[in-house]
Amino acid sequence: MTPTKHAADPAGLLPRQEAVPRPLRVLPDGAGIEIIDQRQLPHRLAWVALHDAEAVAAAIGEMWLRGAPLIGAAAAFGLALALRRDASDASLEAASARLAATRPTAVNLAWALQRVRRAAWPCLPAQRAAAAWREALAIAEADVAANAAIGEHGLVLLREMASRREGPVRVLTHCNAGWLATVGWGTATAPIYMAHAAGLPITVWVDETRPRNQGASLTAWELGRAGVPHRVVADNAGGHLMRRGEVDLVIVGCDCVAANGDVCNKIGTYLKALAAHDNGVPFYVAMPLSTLDLSLPHGDAIPIEERGEREVTHIAGRNAAGEVVEVCLVPEGSRGANPAFDVTPARLVSGLVTERGVVAADGEALRRLVSAGAPDAAGSSDGASRCAGDHGGAPEQRGPA
Ligand code: MRU
Repeated sequence: MTPTKHAADPAGLLPRQEAVPRPLRVLPDGAGIEIIDQRQLPHRLAWVALHDAEAVAAAIGEMWLRGAPLIGAAAAFGLALALRRDASDASLEAASARLAATRPTAVNLAWALQRVRRAAWPCLPAQRAAAAWREALAIAEADVAANAAIGEHGLVLLREMASRREGPVRVLTHCNAGWLATVGWGTATAPIYMAHAAGLPITVWVDETRPRNQGASLTAWELGRAGVPHRVVADNAGGHLMRRGEVDLVIVGCDCVAANGDVCNKIGTYLKALAAHDNGVPFYVAMPLSTLDLSLPHGDAIPIEERGEREVTHIAGRNAAGEVVEVCLVPEGSRGANPAFDVTPARLVSGLVTERGVVAADGEALRRLVSAGAPDAAGSSDGASRCAGDHGGAPEQRGPA
């Protein structure tokens, strides 16, 4: 990859932003998007084209793609595709509602849909699809930039840790908050990739992340491709490793952060935070501002997705013949239960690694962070009402929403 210069990388060792792998690309002429079908990983890398909002909604709901920032970006393109077919108010409402209902916990979904609605609604129907598409592109590019900034801030933490000990920095992560879960870089993995590229010795404990095994299937795949040393561990191993002093730092992603700093992430995150707290291991959460929901006062207000029992009672893997097969794990008649996320109280979080720096997980710090930044920090989109585009002359608008 071509070197570039980052603030945290004066030697220019890190990959350029446009050169980092991405799990989503747009089809020529805005005819749709192409995504990596994450259900097939780690056994097969397959791209699939999505040409309309219904296909995008199904892909999100059935987790062909997943991870809060990627869900948001894909939904934004989905809404733009709906407007391409039918730019009426009714179509805008129906497609927004369909996409929003796919995954209830990742706040990036509602955030991105709101941005696209704000961009498209004031426009004349003939301009709506293009305005929505431009906004979706802006959301996608902003995600890559935010994650690169998260990486730079997280890299400072990793460098500090490296200066305090001999040998590689040992990071534990849960689920997949890597480039597959975002438009590029990943959130929790961005500092890891930057550390690796900068020559900082690092090794990662990858929680397998039952029931869907995003750690074993996706994070391990990503890290392996990038040459980052890692070991996959059973979800229950984290406490043991921390007690034995074999984890220097935990860093995870998140699907929603409430106004008081409570963090919602993949089921099992809370137990890791408890173990980290008990063992004095720093527990960081990588959080782009698109994942912050200041309208939710605390974690109990975050809707927790309940998914199907089959994800718990069955498991898929590759057999010796190279075929991917599903097997049942439980006795006939045993039911599964599948809460997909949990809430980690802010008091257990050492810091939130955001694109604007590392902040305490508390309401005051979060409010300061948002008000100190650009107007789109909490979800609004500047330039959203430019119906005719950057080069399209005077905007034609339909009046305020
Ligand atoms: O159910 P998933 O796989 O969409 O859950 C993903 C996570 O929990 C991630 O940690 C989170 O979305 C952050 S991704 C940068």
